[in-house]
Amino acid sequence: MFEIKKYLQEQRQLVEQAMRRHMLAAEGVFAAHVETMRYSLFVGGKRVRPILCLAAGRCVSGAPDTEELLLPAACALECVHTYSLIHDDLPAMDNDDLRRGQPTCHKKFGEAEAILAGDGLLTYAFELLTSTEFPGPAPELRLRLAAILAKAAGPLGMVGGQFLDIASEEQQIPFELLQTIHRSKTGALITAAVQMGAVGGGADRTQLQALTEYGQAVGLAFQIADDLLDVTASTAQLGKTAGHDAKQGKATYPACLGIEKTRALAAEAADKAVVALAGFDQRAEPLRALARYIVSRTN
Ligand code: IPE
Ligand code: IPE
Ligand code: MG
Ligand code: MG
Ligand code: MG
Repeated sequence: MFEIKKYLQEQRQLVEQAMRRHMLAAEGVFAAHVETMRYSLFVGGKRVRPILCLAAGRCVSGAPDTEELLLPAACALECVHTYSLIHDDLPAMDNDDLRRGQPTCHKKFGEAEAILAGDGLLTYAFELLTSTEFPGPAPELRLRLAAILAKAAGPLGMVGGQFLDIASEEQQIPFELLQTIHRSKTGALITAAVQMGAVGGGADRTQLQALTEYGQAVGLAFQIADDLLDVTASTAQLGKTAGHDAKQGKATYPACLGIEKTRALAAEAADKAVVALAGFDQRAEPLRALARYIVSRTN
């Protein structure tokens, strides 16, 4: 039986050590700016995207240095994700005061400072991926990793999804659009995390195709679960304001389909992710367990 709890703990520790190693230090003339980035990065977080990236890499590669070469890419994913949270919480977007159990970046440092913290993290992610100051796979693979991340985080991925999410507030939208929003605002970066691990680990075409299907399914499952937690969990449990979606008139799965149907669709997406891994041996066990965790998590 795979011990997911222990695995997550170990992997979080590994990722956080690398983040501390690779993140800018708050010193010199830019110390106050770097401090805003470090605050949001290190205040908490489950580190799901970096963990998925490393797990996908290990699933296709037995090379002993795979982890070392993928850790900067894993950190880059967490930087992009954290930037997305900082901007998502801004008054002009979801207007949230609490994140990762602490005041949101704009509450702590001010709105302009939080916008710049997000900008800094997004840009630094690409430095982590492309600068030879950091370990990484061969240059042509680094280029592929950067392209995957840019596409997923950009206008036809996360940012576009966030735009549609805001545009759909207080609207009745078709289910297909709701699914597109979830796949883009959240699914795209999660899919990219898995693909980056796969590509960095040297996956062949068939492996990359299967892992992409896995990533898409867990990415959708992740946001469905996030919607469910917003209505079923407490603020203390989540470290962010519970019940916020209804207040903001968000288009969510529970609002559109009710809780029971939403639970069924989350489970279905997790099953689909596991099915996509049928061609892999026990090295894919962590990815299978992560798919189940993503829909059963409590925060
Ligand atoms: C929250 O992401 C925002 C979504 C994309 C659903 P996480 O649930 O991964 O947040 P942290 O990183 O653990 O704080
Ligand atoms: C966030 O979706 C998606 C992002 C790209 C950040 P939510 O707005 O539902 O995330 P939370 O619930 O605030 O974490
Ligand atoms: Mg949002
Ligand atoms: Mg939000
Ligand atoms: Mg949410």
